[in-house]
Amino acid sequence: MKIKTSFVFGVFMAFISSCLVLSPAFAIENDECMECHSDDTLERTESEGMKEDLFIDYDRFKYSVHNVNGVTCIDCHSDIEELNWDNEVPHPTSLAMVDCDGCHEDEGEAYLDSVHKKAGGKGITIPCYACHGYHFVSHLEADSVFERENKFCLKCHNPDHFHDWLPQKDTHFAFVECAVCHAPDSPRYISLRFYDLISKGFLSAKDLLAALGTDYDTFMDTLDKDKNDIISLEELEDMVLLLRQKDIRGTFHGELVLDLVPSVHHINRGGANRECEQCHNPQSPFFEEVYITLNNEDRTGQRHKVERKVLESYYVNHFYAIGGTRIRYLDKIGLVLIIGGLSLVTGHLLARIVTAPIRRKRKEKKDEFSI
Ligand code: HEC
Ligand code: HEC
Ligand code: HEC
Ligand code: HEC
Ligand code: HEC
Ligand code: HEC
Ligand code: HEC
Repeated sequence: MKIKTSFVFGVFMAFISSCLVLSPAFAIENDECMECHSDDTLERTESEGMKEDLFIDYDRFKYSVHNVNGVTCIDCHSDIEELNWDNEVPHPTSLAMVDCDGCHEDEGEAYLDSVHKKAGGKGITIPCYACHGYHFVSHLEADSVFERENKFCLKCHNPDHFHDWLPQKDTHFAFVECAVCHAPDSPRYISLRFYDLISKGFLSAKDLLAALGTDYDTFMDTLDKDKNDIISLEELEDMVLLLRQKDIRGTFHGELVLDLVPSVHHINRGGANRECEQCHNPQSPFFEEVYITLNNEDRTGQRHKVERKVLESYYVNHFYAIGGTRIRYLDKIGLVLIIGGLSLVTGHLLARIVTAPIRRKRKEKKDEFSI
């Protein structure tokens, strides 16, 4: 992600000025805002009589990706240039909308090519924060498909309505992030997560590392015996055995998720992937990149590359197996196609199979006559 250089410059200037105490405009600290906005009874009455809560939960804000990266209240509420303590409200009361694209230029540009942005033409405004929120924005990398969908798309859409052509909807929604299909030009990868069969839940990176007797820094050193920076099938097996010695039994689940790049915003009507073969095929480019993601406390993820071969292994449970000749799921899909009569070719073939005895008889008759 590219953060506008003027912002970087701004931070630099803020740093300089906080050292020299030169420019009061840069000196409005979060603390000053919080003198009033930490009051959980602070609210105002809107013209329609609705109450608007003006309290900011600073304990949550503290952990937001923005605060952690030094973005302050006035970096976003940039039309507050000074606090005039003589007034009851020390700043203007109708502030401009916060401009997210000012800093996130690339995402702002990518968002132009999106049904959500274009809805503006119909009078429906969907700002960045309709999906991301604003005071408590967090990194997304370590989030599961479930968390990503809940935070974003499911706030407004009920996917049950639109996907009747897709068999096993729930399975797909549990393992394929919505935007993997709906923003088809974005790079994607498979994120393997360790599922503990005894506690019936996903093991956090912290628990996984503790069980392996290692930590974030030494994880790869412990695992990657041949030091090629890729976890091979054998190395993954060693890891599973090590966990078993600690009485942790489980399997890996694979989730198909997007890389975090601006083009994830290219969601458009009629533009989604629906070709089964695009994923259900041994050579699918969708399954090229495989990683184990260790989630950090700040919800960033530490990604470690895994050999593609592991997807076919015993240790990866319930994942659409690829590369093999006896593909368990492909049989099922074949069945679905036939039952659903989705394919003309299949229908034609089926007709030929059913009518085969008749045709054979006819041929025999023909043969008799032609002798
Ligand atoms: C002395 C108390 C006080 C301080 C200090 C203060 N505010 Fe406010 N703020 C208020 C009150 C009261 C309102 C509601 C104003 C109204 O009635 O419309 C408000 C409203 C707001 C709003 C909503 C306005 C809008 O247009 O939607 C924002 C945003 C805001 N404050 C941000 C800040 C920021 C950022 C700071 C620090 C730079 C800050 N405030 C400092 C008291 C304060
Ligand atoms: C990442 C940008 C960002 C940061 C940082 C930020 N705000 Fe906001 N804030 C927003 C947005 C966006 C809104 C809602 C819509 C708007 O005003 O454009 C908002 C709304 C508000 C409101 C109105 C009430 C509400 O919750 O909707 C207040 C008050 C407020 N902010 C105060 C603050 C204070 C105090 C800080 C620092 C502790 C702060 N903001 C930091 C983006 C930000
Ligand atoms: C319709 C919902 C939606 C809207 C609106 C939206 N985003 Fe996103 N954004 C997403 C999704 C989904 C992702 C990918 C997250 C994931 O894969 O879990 C994402 C990812 C991001 C990322 C991280 C990826 C990167 O490029 O670094 C940033 C930053 C971001 N969005 C900023 C913005 C900004 C700025 C806007 C407004 C111009 C915006 N978003 C509008 C849904 C949305
Ligand atoms: C003053 C500049 C600034 C503004 C304004 C701003 N951001 Fe950010 N944003 C940042 C910085 C800096 C980061 C952290 C950089 C990073 O993660 O690479 C960040 C990170 C993010 C991320 C996490 C990206 C990731 O890689 O996981 C999202 C999502 C995001 N911002 C959305 C928003 C939204 C939505 C708004 C508007 C409400 C907004 N930002 C306003 C500077 C800004
Ligand atoms: C804030 C609410 C909101 C969120 C969150 C949201 N959408 Fe939408 N979405 C809409 C609206 C409103 C439209 C209709 C726009 C129009 O009529 O032009 C729409 C349209 C669409 C369409 C086009 C089809 C249609 O019915 O018009 C798709 C596909 C879509 N959204 C997918 C997604 C995905 C995937 C996500 C999560 C990344 C998401 N949306 C998040 C509100 C939302
Ligand atoms: C396997 C791929 C796939 C997955 C996963 C998927 N979709 Fe879809 N979705 C499609 C296709 C294909 C359509 C048909 C319309 C199209 O081509 O955009 C569609 C249609 C839609 C529509 C209506 C679009 C229209 O034109 O009326 C919405 C809204 C939508 N999906 C939202 C979601 C949400 C939310 C999720 C995640 C919970 C999701 N989708 C997951 C492929 C997928
Ligand atoms: C974007 C990629 C993608 C597309 C497109 C897609 N699938 Fe899937 N599908 C998956 C993944 C990944 C799984 C594995 C979920 C899991 O781990 O069990 C899956 C699971 C399935 C399963 C369940 C396997 C089982 O036993 O649990 C069936 C059946 C299936 N898909 C059929 C289809 C059909 C038919 C289509 C086309 C109409 C289709 N899929 C389109 C990715 C996709």
